[in-house]
Amino acid sequence: MIKASRRSQGVSYAIRDVVLPAKKLEKKGIPVLHLNIGDPNKYDFDTPQHMKDALFEAANEGHNGYSPSEGYLELRTGIVEREQKRNNVTYTPDGLCITTGVTESLQILLNASLDPGDELLIPGPTYPQYTLITRFNNAEPVAYRCIEEEGWQPDVEDIRKKISKRTKGIVLINPNNPTGALYSKNVIKNIIDLAGEYKLPVISDEIYDDLTFDGKQYATAALAKDVPVITFNGFSKVYLVPGWRVGYTLFYHSGELDEIQDAFMRIARSRLCASSVCQRACIAALKGPQNHIEMVNQKLRKRRDFSYKRLNEIEGISTAKPDGAFYIFPKIEAMENGLWKDDKEFVLDLLHEAHVLVVHGSGFCSTYGKNHFRAVILPQLETLEKAFDKLEQFMNKKLKTN
Ligand SMILES: Cc1ncc(COP(=O)(O)O)c(C=O)c1O
Repeated sequence: MIKASRRSQGVSYAIRDVVLPAKKLEKKGIPVLHLNIGDPNKYDFDTPQHMKDALFEAANEGHNGYSPSEGYLELRTGIVEREQKRNNVTYTPDGLCITTGVTESLQILLNASLDPGDELLIPGPTYPQYTLITRFNNAEPVAYRCIEEEGWQPDVEDIRKKISKRTKGIVLINPNNPTGALYSKNVIKNIIDLAGEYKLPVISDEIYDDLTFDGKQYATAALAKDVPVITFNGFSKVYLVPGWRVGYTLFYHSGELDEIQDAFMRIARSRLCASSVCQRACIAALKGPQNHIEMVNQKLRKRRDFSYKRLNEIEGISTAKPDGAFYIFPKIEAMENGLWKDDKEFVLDLLHEAHVLVVHGSGFCSTYGKNHFRAVILPQLETLEKAFDKLEQFMNKKLKTN
């Protein structure tokens, strides 16, 4: 047997791992209600028509070769304008790089900035890629607590306690996957102050920035003043094109990030470029009508309200209210009864008995995510209703036989 690398052995991705047992059920002809994957296009959300047209045009106009490694200037200029208009933050087109999605942005950034033994402060719970790529670099992801009782806001004092000599940065995900938390201006400011005190950069993942239901999303760089911020953003979620794989990294600083930005760009050149046709279509996305965003938020707000109410009615389950992105992260109160070994066993039991697929919370953080699960609030109300009815029947049966 030819051996796989040692560092590949720790790689697993909870969100997609749970799909395998679901596929087995479906192969047997058993339909499964999927509440597991953060892809709006799998539900009743469609890419705006003018973006699809622009994609066709880009191919017909001959944009089928490689683009510059940092991305097309027109797209970078469009992003600079969006940052100015939305966040009042000034960048130049050289201050950003287009990537194959935020996933690649974070891979390149962490590869460019982490040495073995370094530590990265990551929200607990988090989007799992941050943990994976930190470990892949033989560095240590350090989860800081987010406070469930406060709608999963980061615990700034916990971050302070966990800063060490080896800390290389503080990651924020706002709005958050998997909790749906929208961070308050105050919390962001406090984290920036802390980062400034310890001379750390803030890494801010804002891929869900315009998907909010009650409040407004504050861009970290807009509040950062003299603290360096690396922002990740992209088109997957807000523009409903996760399969196009277009994201970007913005560098906000006055010289402190020169070396990291240079390393980032060297790695970016070594991987050639992001998809050229999709980049062309994203130029059109920024220039064209934006009214789909409010329509998406209206639908999501209704689905959020329904999910929040319905889940809290179920015995053995409780949940905080999400205010952004498209996730809800309920607590399995009934775990205390010892009905399941862990949250993954709960998720698999729910899948096999009720045919509802969600993702186990420990896949997002073994400390602060355990005994929870993540569900998407993307399906139509009838599907959500059906799924939560099945969850309720499942819980009632389990709690009765216990
Ligand atoms: C917080 C967060 N960052 C990044 C990504 C991945 O984004 P992309 O499609 O741009 O790679 C996701 C996808 O779910 C996410 O939730």
